[in-house]
Amino acid sequence: MKLAIITGGSKGLGAALVDLWKRHGYRIVEFSRTGATKDSVQCDFQDYHQSATIVSTTMKQLSDTEYSEVVLINNVGAILPIGPIGDFSIEDYQKSIHVNFLSTIMVSGVFTKYFQQHRCNKTIIYISSGAAIRPKYGWSLYCGAKAGLDQFFRTYALEQSPQKYPIRAVTCNPGVIDTDMQETIRNTPEELFPEKARFIGLKNNNELRSPEHVAAEIYQRCLNSTEDYVEV
Ligand SMILES: NC(=O)c1ccc[n+]([C@@H]2O[C@H](COP(=O)([O-])OP(=O)(O)OC[C@H]3O[C@@H](n4cnc5c(N)ncnc54)[C@H](OP(=O)(O)O)[C@@H]3O)[C@@H](O)[C@H]2O)c1
Repeated sequence: MKLAIITGGSKGLGAALVDLWKRHGYRIVEFSRTGATKDSVQCDFQDYHQSATIVSTTMKQLSDTEYSEVVLINNVGAILPIGPIGDFSIEDYQKSIHVNFLSTIMVSGVFTKYFQQHRCNKTIIYISSGAAIRPKYGWSLYCGAKAGLDQFFRTYALEQSPQKYPIRAVTCNPGVIDTDMQETIRNTPEELFPEKARFIGLKNNNELRSPEHVAAEIYQRCLNSTEDYVEV
């Protein structure tokens, strides 16, 4: 049996990843707040302790089975809040960093704890963004988290190299995708996000990528290559 664990699999790119990996015969477990399928485990990554308990319990149970292959896709992400950093509340900082940064570290760490000694092929795919390398006015929390996780996974790969049964880590920049996240960006007031017009233009000119197409490229490029950074 093959296993795919996907964060934020209820909609957008995550839902397309769930569909595709499922069609390739993987048992799916997805973590989100609103996912309502038999593959869904409900958890809110804004709540660190509750989500860590749910993820730990689930991973421990999953790791009791032997698999022919295991994939973890760290897809969860949230663009809000958008605006200058001084406008946000103390709670805003925490919620954003929990969802965009800490959750992926926690999920990857717990995954490593329970699956390190499994002998099968194991891959962690991290869905990053161009925002990791290109700063955008109003996106400081999102850009900072994406950049931090890029470096986290470079370090992760270094730590895996001497392992007897290493877990391969690959970071993926998926381009601009037609999801709810893009709708949120287009609906942001221009004074909070001056680049908004460019994103409206991408939508109007049909230049947004479909989640299904991006998922297919991720499957092809991230599983079947030895690259550790992939732009799809
Ligand atoms: N769209 C783009 O143009 C674009 C570009 C570059 C990178 N990305 C990256 O691609 C990934 C997917 O983005 P998307 O565009 O598909 O976003 P999306 O449509 O907004 O979907 C986000 C997913 O994350 C889940 N999620 C959000 N907050 C959560 C929370 N507090 N707890 C648990 N789950 C939560 C959502 O599920 P629930 O709402 O059910 O909780 C949903 O399944 C993200 O990492 C994003 O940064 C997107």
